[in-house]
Amino acid sequence: MRTRCTQVTAAVLTATLLASGCGGDGGDGTELEVFSWWTGGGEEAGLEALIERFEEDNPDVDFVNAAVAGGSGTNAQAVLEGRLQSQDPPDSFQGHAGAELQDYIEAGYLQPLDDFFAEQGLQEAMPDQLAEQITYDGSVYSVPVNIHRSNVMWFDPGLLEEAGVDGAPGTLDELVEALEAVEAETDAIPMAVGAQWTVDHLLESVLLSSLGTDAYNELWEPGANWDTPEVTEALETFEQIMEHTQEESAAEDWQEASRRVSDGEAAFNIMGDWAAGYFDELGATPGEDYDWAPSPGTDGTYMWLSDSFTLPEGAPNEEQAMAWLELVSSAEGQDLFNPVKGSIPAREDTDPAEYEDSPYLSEALAEWQDEPELAGSFWHGVTVGNRWKNEVDTAVGLYLGDGELDTLQGSLHEAAQAE
Ligand code: GAL
Repeated sequence: MRTRCTQVTAAVLTATLLASGCGGDGGDGTELEVFSWWTGGGEEAGLEALIERFEEDNPDVDFVNAAVAGGSGTNAQAVLEGRLQSQDPPDSFQGHAGAELQDYIEAGYLQPLDDFFAEQGLQEAMPDQLAEQITYDGSVYSVPVNIHRSNVMWFDPGLLEEAGVDGAPGTLDELVEALEAVEAETDAIPMAVGAQWTVDHLLESVLLSSLGTDAYNELWEPGANWDTPEVTEALETFEQIMEHTQEESAAEDWQEASRRVSDGEAAFNIMGDWAAGYFDELGATPGEDYDWAPSPGTDGTYMWLSDSFTLPEGAPNEEQAMAWLELVSSAEGQDLFNPVKGSIPAREDTDPAEYEDSPYLSEALAEWQDEPELAGSFWHGVTVGNRWKNEVDTAVGLYLGDGELDTLQGSLHEAAQAE
């Protein structure tokens, strides 16, 4: 396997790529270039498990790992857009099922995969609501590899005890009380955050809890009204929580924020369940070094997202890309990837025994199979495309600088009107 163009920083994204000529090969058919943002702790190991199997099955193909560092794809998506616009696509890239994928489809960047789905029996293997999120105008455009949960609260049980907090807070009010107690009674950070996107991630859990599942989902309808007392209340709670975080830092990605919990430096971190994969990699003990619960007030709702792989128009090595898609769509591939990644399979016919070693994942799988209420993660591409999402991020960034909650609410409302 070769690695291409990893660790590109936001500041030098597109220019670096264009100048260095990074991108696909000349299409001689001996290479497969896969693009993702899985480079860091917990993320890379899942990808590596798939690459290893791919290389065993395809010894003549040179696998090029074109991952670009940066949690939730903040850097990778900008790099990818540049490559797609300049007609230099990788052979396959990671994209979220839902509105994010729709952006790529509408721009004409993706090939439909209907025949592949029929050959592999994928429609039958995936839940209907997931199939809907990858379908556009009657055709399917990507291959989901997993289901992640966004609304998970990770906490350090030892620090909660030290602060006199009796178990995981079940509501936002209880969370704020717990944060105050941690602040007063311990030296730890009450709520850890990392780079700015982790604050966007926290915001979606607070909105879900404060508004409820239906009203949260409705927020992401084009033209939705964010100028309501209910949204004001949700944002006020968000502000109260933010008062108990350390300053967000571009230098710390989600791994650092989650690690602070398992290392006893922070009491809470609201982060997707990719953290479960990372805690395993760190050798942390579930129930001791860290524990988890749904984000306060969201029990019974799975705020979901799904990573999927695509076949871009003009992929230089289409035959190899199809072999990759076959692997990631297979039950075997999903059971190699997901237990390490900290996600549950997109397919419904995989082997539950593969998830039994992880107390978190076996619980997540059971809950998913129990048909919970569903909310789409906005930050991770389900409910809105990149334009809307980036406007939310800009508004959150300004708020973090000026603390003007009214302005934040106004900008969030504006962002919803622009669709
Ligand atoms: C999400 C992605 C996950 C995980 C996470 C943190 O957007 O779907 O697979 O990688 O970002 O980087």
